[in-house]
Amino acid sequence: MSYDLDEQSASGHDQDLQTALLAAGLPIDDLTQSGRTFFRFADHGEVVGFGGLETYGDCALLRSVVVLTDQRRHGYGEAITRQMLDQASRGGARTVYLLTESSAAFFEHLGFASVDRADAPAAILQTRQASSLCPASAALLAKTIQG
Ligand SMILES: CC(C)(COP(=O)(O)OP(=O)(O)OC[C@H]1O[C@@H](n2cnc3c(N)ncnc32)[C@H](O)[C@@H]1OP(=O)(O)O)[C@@H](O)C(=O)NCCC(=O)NCCS
Repeated sequence: MSYDLDEQSASGHDQDLQTALLAAGLPIDDLTQSGRTFFRFADHGEVVGFGGLETYGDCALLRSVVVLTDQRRHGYGEAITRQMLDQASRGGARTVYLLTESSAAFFEHLGFASVDRADAPAAILQTRQASSLCPASAALLAKTIQG
């Protein structure tokens, strides 16, 4: 089933965002720094998850994609990722990168492919996520999106 989720901007200070990320073991240290945008997703008024973006010219880092624990495996993660890719496209990105420790298979299912860090743009490698917050063992994935 493909959802069209209600999407609202969220602040990096949002307690629900921070709680969801912490519960999923995702970084929260840099949420309130500039250059990040976050969104809260709801289905029929009920919050189901969040997503975030950092945009650097024609590339973007998709980050902080999380579905609330009791809402997983219903298709919301796929819907959030699709809507975040639309956001990235509207922001001018043509390639979207992400780092993940445990969900590479989920994103590969959605068209992302593994890339060597040596082949990634400096702007992506210099993000807090890539340079310090995510372990070196985290997989780097990328997807080219339509203009
Ligand atoms: C990864 C995550 C967002 C997936 O959300 P979800 O709502 O459970 O995923 P969906 O229900 O939309 O799944 C879509 C498809 O991916 C598959 N899938 C879901 N999680 C998967 C996983 N961890 N590995 C492999 N496939 C997965 C589903 O089976 C489904 O396939 P189908 O369409 O053939 O049935 C969620 O598990 C999560 O919040 N994880 C913790 C945070 C995280 O790791 N975020 C990524 C780093 S930013």
